[in-house]
Amino acid sequence: MEAFRLLFLVVVVISTSECSETTQPECKDLDTETFRILEDEAFYFVPSTLLDPNNPNVNFTWYKNSSQFEKISSDERDRVHFHGGALFFLNPDSADSGHYTARKISSSGKCYNYHVNINFFSASYRGSEAFTYGPIENSDQNKKIPCPDPVSYTCKMFKGNFTWYKELNLLPGKNEENLWVNNVTKHDEGMYTCICTWTHNHKVYNSSASRRLKHKGLHKHDDVQILTPSNKEQVADEGFKIILNCSIYCGVNVKHDCDASWLVNGNPAKKTDISTKMFMVNPSNITISTAILTIDKVSAKHFQDKFECVGVGFNTYESVSLTLKRRESITPLVIGGVCVLLFCVIAAMLVKWFAIDLALFFRPFCTLSSRNEDARLYDAYVVYQTQGIDKGTENTLSMFITKSLPSVLEKKCGYRLFLHGRDDIPGEDRLEVVEKCMRQSRRLMVLLTPGSGSGSETTDGDLLPPQMSAIGGFDWQVGLHHALVQREMNVILIQLGDTGPEGYTHLPPGVQHLIRKSAPIRWPECSQGAAAWNSRFWKKVRYLMPATPAKKCALSDII
Ligand SMILES: *[C@@H]1O[C@H](CO)[C@@H](O)[C@H](O)[C@H]1NC(C)=O
Ligand SMILES: *[C@@H]1O[C@H](CO)[C@@H](O)[C@H](O)[C@H]1NC(C)=O
Ligand SMILES: *[C@@H]1O[C@H](CO)[C@@H](O)[C@H](O)[C@H]1NC(C)=O
Ligand SMILES: *[C@@H]1O[C@H](CO)[C@@H](O)[C@H](O)[C@H]1NC(C)=O
Repeated sequence: MEAFRLLFLVVVVISTSECSETTQPECKDLDTETFRILEDEAFYFVPSTLLDPNNPNVNFTWYKNSSQFEKISSDERDRVHFHGGALFFLNPDSADSGHYTARKISSSGKCYNYHVNINFFSASYRGSEAFTYGPIENSDQNKKIPCPDPVSYTCKMFKGNFTWYKELNLLPGKNEENLWVNNVTKHDEGMYTCICTWTHNHKVYNSSASRRLKHKGLHKHDDVQILTPSNKEQVADEGFKIILNCSIYCGVNVKHDCDASWLVNGNPAKKTDISTKMFMVNPSNITISTAILTIDKVSAKHFQDKFECVGVGFNTYESVSLTLKRRESITPLVIGGVCVLLFCVIAAMLVKWFAIDLALFFRPFCTLSSRNEDARLYDAYVVYQTQGIDKGTENTLSMFITKSLPSVLEKKCGYRLFLHGRDDIPGEDRLEVVEKCMRQSRRLMVLLTPGSGSGSETTDGDLLPPQMSAIGGFDWQVGLHHALVQREMNVILIQLGDTGPEGYTHLPPGVQHLIRKSAPIRWPECSQGAAAWNSRFWKKVRYLMPATPAKKCALSDII
């Protein structure tokens, strides 16, 4: 029984001692790294968490974990070998793809497993996106493109040379670990590849790594500036719709912190009335925010409101206040203009209409000085046709001469007329009288009567000798001579009755000439008010008469 127990114990002891010899120490597994490598390049790998791959106090063993667990050679001449913590693939092919593990046992007995997955691809994949490292897409103006870690590390370890390619085109003169691209534009975007050319055991190898450069554009927060409204007042029409535009500038390529809004009397405008938007202006990428306040119908109250456009940026705040102003109507202006125009027209018409009345009214004031210069006895010498006129005309003429003319001009106005047949003294030499009196007259008043053809019934005058019946007796001739040739007297033409079909052709040429110069004043025989001394007819006549009657002067002369 004792012997059996002893045997059992021995077996147990032996078995445990055997086990302790084969058991691996506890190893800590570290994260797995992954690489994609082109077959025509060399690959030198050192786990990224390993500080010194050549530490002599540390024991490394490398395995490949594929179909079976195979140990990697440490012979420097082998295509795939390791040296300390570093693993070399000098002329790899796709068969070398797989999971590799480095076991590190330090002198203190600590054990770590470093894992790496490496896949080798045909060189035809060169330039493919799958082989790139992290992209460069910051918004810096000058961008730094670092050569990705495994390649830059290789170059540093083997004192290799860097060359840079953009889209597989050599960038000459770029031989630094970091490539700088200054003043980046859209044009600079693309795939950048660094190649390290390094030497190992007198052989030259290449290792490459690529990154994509993306241009996001600069972004820059500026002080907020209010672009609109630019005036403190905005013109509006009551009852109509108006749109108030608050737009602010915040900087370049700004994506947030750029808010425009409207306050009405200090309170935020109703959400339903307002629409906001943030946008970039191409090509400068300036960021603008707008808040559009829409008032569907402007009321009287809105003209009292205080509107405030507020801009809030990344670190500044700006605001501008605005009031509505009624549009000035142009209607009063137009009405005023029309009134002034009408007034002018009416004034012009009145002046034209009452020119004679005005002249007569102001006459006493204006002619005082020239009164005494003319000392002639008569104001007017009246000539008229006595022969070759029909009965009706004769009646009219005699009525005019005997009643109307003296009653108005002499009685009312104080003029002194020389009337043939009334004022010539019988027995006196007619020619002498005409000559003398004509010289003593200031006006020649010619009464025009219709020609002989106009009436059917003629007076006995037809029977008189031809030189007497002809129009333009001696007094006509003398008068016209004084008026036209000597220009001593002005002529007043008065038309009695109609001119008849022949017009004035029966009159002497001198009278016709005067008629052409100024139209005769027509005696409105039938008109009711014509006889009144202040009728339009008499005003016209008085206007042509001397300003001051001759009588007064003459009387004073006589006395
Ligand atoms: C090695 O590979 C086998 C199967 O391929 C897997 O089960 C095992 O976990 C791997 N070992 C390591 C350390 O990755
Ligand atoms: C690196 O460049 C230097 C100088 O241009 C040259 O002497 C050296 O041979 C180059 N090394 C490799 C590995 O090409
Ligand atoms: C390494 O790359 C350079 C171009 O950078 C090329 O001229 C040279 O032939 C390559 N060498 C090897 C060994 O692939
Ligand atoms: C508001 O003003 C901005 C800047 O002036 C302009 O770009 C925008 O088109 C305006 N919006 C409206 C609705 O008028």
